[in-house]
Amino acid sequence: MALENQQTNTKVDNETQTAKRWRLGYHIMAPSGWINDPNGLIQYKGNYHVFFQHYPYGVEWGPMHWGHVASHDLVHWKYYPIALVPGDTYDRDGCFSGSAVEDEGELCLIYTGHRYLDKEKSLADQVQCLAVSRDGIQFTKDSNNPVIASYPEEGSGDFRDPKVWRHNDFWYLIAGTTKNHIGKVVLYRSSDLRTWTYLGGIAQSEGNQGYMWECPDFFELKSPQGIEPEDDCYQNLHQTGYFVGHFDDECFDFSHGSFNELDKGHDFYAVQTFQDDQGRRIAFAWMDMWESLMPEQEEGWAGALTLPRELTLAADGKIRMTPVEELKKLRKNKLLSVENEYISGEKTYHELTDELLEIEVEFDTTLVEAFDFGINLRVGETEETVIRYDLKEEKLILDRTKSGTGVGGVRQTALPKSERLRLHIYLDRSSVEVFANDGETVMTSRIYPTEKNEGVRLFSNEGDVRMTRLNVWRLENIGLNFENK
Ligand code: FRU
Repeated sequence: MALENQQTNTKVDNETQTAKRWRLGYHIMAPSGWINDPNGLIQYKGNYHVFFQHYPYGVEWGPMHWGHVASHDLVHWKYYPIALVPGDTYDRDGCFSGSAVEDEGELCLIYTGHRYLDKEKSLADQVQCLAVSRDGIQFTKDSNNPVIASYPEEGSGDFRDPKVWRHNDFWYLIAGTTKNHIGKVVLYRSSDLRTWTYLGGIAQSEGNQGYMWECPDFFELKSPQGIEPEDDCYQNLHQTGYFVGHFDDECFDFSHGSFNELDKGHDFYAVQTFQDDQGRRIAFAWMDMWESLMPEQEEGWAGALTLPRELTLAADGKIRMTPVEELKKLRKNKLLSVENEYISGEKTYHELTDELLEIEVEFDTTLVEAFDFGINLRVGETEETVIRYDLKEEKLILDRTKSGTGVGGVRQTALPKSERLRLHIYLDRSSVEVFANDGETVMTSRIYPTEKNEGVRLFSNEGDVRMTRLNVWRLENIGLNFENK
């Protein structure tokens, strides 16, 4: 019998809300408590549904529930009751990550039932489970659970995060697992989502590509853990990346190229994707990182999801990630629109003190004399978050050493010089997402400013740079909290 769904955390008064200076304005977060991976992304009966790993009774990771939000436009979200609560024999220690499909009008969630064999040693025996709903709100766990009751021979009890999709007449499921410290992805097939046949492994680490592969996706996205840092790459504790390859659906063989990191910022993990009715592949990720500081915990919540991003495959064989078109709906009013200004040293826009901003800035990189140039966000007396392009090294750099409290660190990534550098930036109260050159490089990081916001600053060092255009919008606070319930 599942534990009763107690949403005692839903009573937060207005005073507490105003004290929440880092509570995000237009990102998905839990009402309160902890959140990690996005789960079960799907468009069902016209609405977009996003579930997420959630512990509602504290600001740290605990027995995982599935939180739930839905939206008609990918921008404005509404909380729904918690969809999955752990406590049955097969998911007694948590309802871990998984995916969603629609089958005969039902919204079906396929997730991992987590059971500890030895909690101290983090030894688990994980199984795969099913829960269904007719209205997309109330879910019933299937009486056949667990639908995959044990891990395959080339795996281990770390066997999780099922991703299910339909292909021809069958359902296919991949899950992440590990054996002898080699992360891998295994494949199953079913005709009814309840009885699954094991088809074998389809991809695995070549030794340096992670000891555990979590949250595998149907297409190319994989989220391995434990890759050693290499120059500027793989600097995060856990990495998210993808292989582009060819899947042979008769031999179930996946031949692929090398591993590419998907986002070069500090806080991007456990990405999931789904295809919507326009054929777009849309991704959400957890906008945090395991074991990193989360100063928002003092405000009674922890964790958020990234903005929805559209994935496309570019001619160079790499994935481009751009904010979905609908996000333009967030624009409330244009605060600034300037063209052709030479930046020499610093130029601060003191009018740009809103906490929720969208910024499009473009620089001419052809005749530039400067050594580097860029944009500083959330500029305070001593604080700033720096996004900088190093012309000599041809690198984009996100520096949050002076961003505020809690977290720090620099991330940098190669971005070959072209005629223009275009930065499309979404700034929220405690996050920044930078899409460079139409998604060629993306950097996502959490920041925790504490000082009075004095605006946005453009800068160039050791020479001028021509800023060709700068457009800035104030964005809407979507009010994803209890006031709207
Ligand atoms: C990834 C992950 C998943 C797991 C979930 C548990 O961040 O470790 O592998 O299902 O989080 O909350």
